[in-house]
Amino acid sequence: MLNNRLRGIKNMIPHGTKFVLDVGTDHSYLPITLIQEEIASYVIASDISVFPLEDANENIRKHGLEECIETRLGDGLQVLNENEYPDLVVIAGVSGEGIVKILQEGYNKLEFDPILVLQAMEDSYSLRKYLLEIGYNFDKEVLISDKKRYYQIIRSIREKGYKNYSKLELEYGPQILKNPTKTLKEFLEKELAKINRVINNVNRSSSKDDEIIDKKNKFVKRYHDLQEVYRNAFSHEKRYH
Ligand SMILES: C[S@@+](CC[C@H](N)C(=O)[O-])C[C@H]1O[C@@H](n2cnc3c(N)ncnc32)[C@H](O)[C@@H]1O
Repeated sequence: MLNNRLRGIKNMIPHGTKFVLDVGTDHSYLPITLIQEEIASYVIASDISVFPLEDANENIRKHGLEECIETRLGDGLQVLNENEYPDLVVIAGVSGEGIVKILQEGYNKLEFDPILVLQAMEDSYSLRKYLLEIGYNFDKEVLISDKKRYYQIIRSIREKGYKNYSKLELEYGPQILKNPTKTLKEFLEKELAKINRVINNVNRSSSKDDEIIDKKNKFVKRYHDLQEVYRNAFSHEKRYH
């Protein structure tokens, strides 16, 4: 039932978690698997739109899991009642900006420090930056490839103390870079090739426009910085899997 991306998300959820909220559940494949595999004992599967929730209800019914999975229609963490505090919140398949908005608007629901399992479709940088601002750090991260796309999955927990990360660590994930894999190698090589193509295109232009030169310098700097990240992750002494 789960594709690689959703399997990666599932693997971030500790066995024995009592109460999970899956925001933007869509088909509810994740909650169904969490109950079937006894990873969680109770899940609220929510969505802001009616049609995905109808799908979710149908799938939950088909598996006879209505007692363990409750669906709710609504925006982000607002679906939780006053005294409801999940142990773990999943927000996946939404933009980084969308996830930040959900966390900002439902900030009071983070009072008891739920574990957050997050997967932004883009802009993981802004998401990590916001998590640090609210005292969350990156406990575990994984980069998954699925049908030629790459997805960063972040498990975040509240931790005391100031954490300092570089811009590229916030973009690519400090834990992902610390534990290099074949997928990361492929991904960074593609990112480097993409930047190189932009630099070559700018080089071909005969414009002496300051704006174009400035753009090229920014891309050249980004290329060198990312190349250093790549070398650090894949220096010969380090093994990766
Ligand atoms: C691309 S689907 C992802 C489904 C599933 N979470 C996954 O990762 O496969 C995004 C879902 O999030 C829902 N959604 C978007 N913004 C939301 C919000 N603020 N609150 C609740 N659901 C939201 C959409 O209606 C949609 O069903």
